[in-house]
Amino acid sequence: MGAVCHVDLLSILRRIPNHKLCMTAISASAPGKIILFGEHAVVYGRPAIAVPIHQVKAKAIIFPAPRMSPGSIFIQAPDIGMEANLIELPQDNPLAASIQVVLKELNISHPPAFKLRITSTIPLAAGMGSGAAVSAAIIRVLSNFLGQPLPDHRVSDLVFEIEKIHHGTPSGIDNTVITHGMPTFFIRDRMGHNTIATFRVAQPFTIVIADTGISSPTSITVGDVREGWRQNPDYYETLFDEVGKVVLSAREAIENGQIEDLGRLMDENHSLLGDMGVSSQELDRLVKIAKNEGALGAKLSGGGRGGNIIVLVYNTSADQIAECLRLAGAVRTLTAVIR
Ligand code: MEV
Repeated sequence: MGAVCHVDLLSILRRIPNHKLCMTAISASAPGKIILFGEHAVVYGRPAIAVPIHQVKAKAIIFPAPRMSPGSIFIQAPDIGMEANLIELPQDNPLAASIQVVLKELNISHPPAFKLRITSTIPLAAGMGSGAAVSAAIIRVLSNFLGQPLPDHRVSDLVFEIEKIHHGTPSGIDNTVITHGMPTFFIRDRMGHNTIATFRVAQPFTIVIADTGISSPTSITVGDVREGWRQNPDYYETLFDEVGKVVLSAREAIENGQIEDLGRLMDENHSLLGDMGVSSQELDRLVKIAKNEGALGAKLSGGGRGGNIIVLVYNTSADQIAECLRLAGAVRTLTAVIR
């Protein structure tokens, strides 16, 4: 039996071009992200600013499994209670789709058997890019395992393909920030071309990220904004233009170290998101509490209606404001210094 497996494995290896196949366990990871400015409007060609959050991450590990039958791929995702063979999963399952895009990209139809274990500390459906980070980690580890590591820009493109299955019309900002792992100024124009720029943070600033604990899939709010825009295009286009101006001013404020201005711009952006219909009582309540406690500015971040708010604070008041937000009902807070 062992000899048969060995022969099969060799024949499979021969089908993998440039076969530097890895035979020990390997891993890859990708960080979470937070949108500082410009969510939703970014889907309509306006700029946005997002940063990676390295304190949380998705991790994918591959264990080669030469004793499993050739071609079989077993997936374990303990955070969501999943244990399944790839062939049992529907094609649009994001874990399955992340594997399939790599096999297609590398033109490998018969991969060697392996086990894939995925874990993540990024809160789900909270606007922190958990889905995109899981896809990025899988795509990276699998292409490494198959001996053909993909460059960041290809990883990002493939994550974007997966995002489209679930979000319909993603802007591309999540996959970009998560894959490149750097603060990013992003514009996707109407033709689908991306402008991606990193920028200088003149003076590091501190944000508290506070999770409402309300799960709110981005696909729903993105769909609702699209519906609103279809019914009332002039109104929404004006809101998107206003957001675009806020984002350009925010970039200037970050590049010039004008932290107080940044706070005011966050407040403005939150109010415009409310006008788009993606805030909620709970998000508004937490934003108000943060402001009453002395925050420089606060806004929802990501898809909205739930998920996180971000709060700009002086470094010295971060702990106190975070504690107030937890006492007020935030299920978790995380403090990050953006530099
Ligand atoms: C989600 O993190 C950000 C949105 O702008 C959607 C997108 O850009 O794809 C709401």
